[in-house]
Amino acid sequence: MNAIEAVGLGRRFGAVAALDGVDLAVPAGSVLGLLGHNGAGKSTLVHVLATLLRPTSGTARVAGHDVVRQAARVRRSIGVTGQQATLDLTMSGRDNLLLVARLLGAGRRQARARADHLLDLFGLAAAADRPARTYSGGMRRRLDLAATLVRRPEVLFLDEPGTGLDPVSRLDLWDMVRQLTGTGTTVVLTTQHLEEADRLADAIVVLAGGRIIASGSPADLKARVGRRTATVQLSTDPDADAAETALRRADLRPVRDGRTLTTALTRDSDLTAVVRALDAAAVEPDRLTVAEPGLDEVYLALTARTEAR
Ligand SMILES: Nc1ncnc2c1ncn2[C@@H]1O[C@H](COP(=O)(O)OP(=O)(O)O)[C@@H](O)[C@H]1O
Ligand SMILES: [Mg+2]
Repeated sequence: MNAIEAVGLGRRFGAVAALDGVDLAVPAGSVLGLLGHNGAGKSTLVHVLATLLRPTSGTARVAGHDVVRQAARVRRSIGVTGQQATLDLTMSGRDNLLLVARLLGAGRRQARARADHLLDLFGLAAAADRPARTYSGGMRRRLDLAATLVRRPEVLFLDEPGTGLDPVSRLDLWDMVRQLTGTGTTVVLTTQHLEEADRLADAIVVLAGGRIIASGSPADLKARVGRRTATVQLSTDPDADAAETALRRADLRPVRDGRTLTTALTRDSDLTAVVRALDAAAVEPDRLTVAEPGLDEVYLALTARTEAR
C-alpha cells in the first residue's frame, strides 16, 4: 500500500512554478529522501502534501485521503517538523510533551505514559524536567520530533531535519529516524545533504526547478550515473608509459596525470582486465585503488544535465 500518491502535482507562486508536475508513490513504512538544492521545491512539496499549501494543479493522497477534499483527515494522519514552532522553551521537555498529549485529548495517565515513552526513545529522560531552553540544538530537535510523534502519525514529514545540527547531533537524529521506520511510520525527509539521503532513505527523489529529475534507490542512482574508477600509481615514468600503452591496448582508455593513470570501470570484468594488462606489461604499480561513485557525483551529474537543457 502507498502512504503517499501524487499525480501531476504543481504549485505556482505567480510566475514561479515552485512545483511542476510531480508524480510520487511512497510505500507505507518506507523513508523517502527528497534531495535538492535550495529553491528546488522541497518545502513546497512537503507543504502541499501536509495540506499547508493548496496545489494549483494535480492531485495527491496522503494516508489514503485527498489533500484538498479531505484536508482535515490528512492533518489527523500526519506530523510535520521543521521549525520547532511547537515547543515552549520555558517549559521542561516533559511538560511540552504532556501539553501536546492533553491537547490531543489524552487522559492524564495516558499522557504521562506517552511522554515517558518518547522521552526514553529520544534519549531525553535524564533532561526531562529541565527547561527546554537549556537543551542543546540536537536535544531541541529531538524534543520537537518527539512532540510530533505524540499523536503517532502515519506519515511524518521532516523538512531538513539535519540543518544547523553539529555532526554528533546529526548522527543521533539519523538513529531516531531509523528507529521510527521500525514502527511502520512512513517518513518523508528533505535534505540538501547527499549523505543524509544515502544513509536514511529507501528511495530518493531528486528535485530541481520543481521537477523530479531522477528517482530510485540510492544504489540505483549510483549505478545509473556513477561509474567505478580504478587508479594506478606507477613509480617511474617508463613504467607509466608501459602501463598506459598496455591499458590502451586492452581498450581501457586511461586518463594520465604524471605517473597516475585512471580508467573508468564500465564492465564487471574491467578491473580484472586492468590487472591483466599491467601484468602483461610487467609493471608493478605502487598503488591500485578502486573508487565507488558517491551520491554527490550522481547529484552533480543529474543537475548539470538538467541545467544544460
Ligand atoms: N510563499 C512563496 N511565495 C513565492 N515564492 C515562493 C514561496 N515559497 C517558495 N517560493 C519559491 O518556490 C521555489 C521553491 O521553493 P522551496 O519549495 O522553498 O524550495 P526548497 O525547500 O527546495 O529550498 C523557490 O523559487 C522559491 O523562491
Ligand atoms: Mg526548504
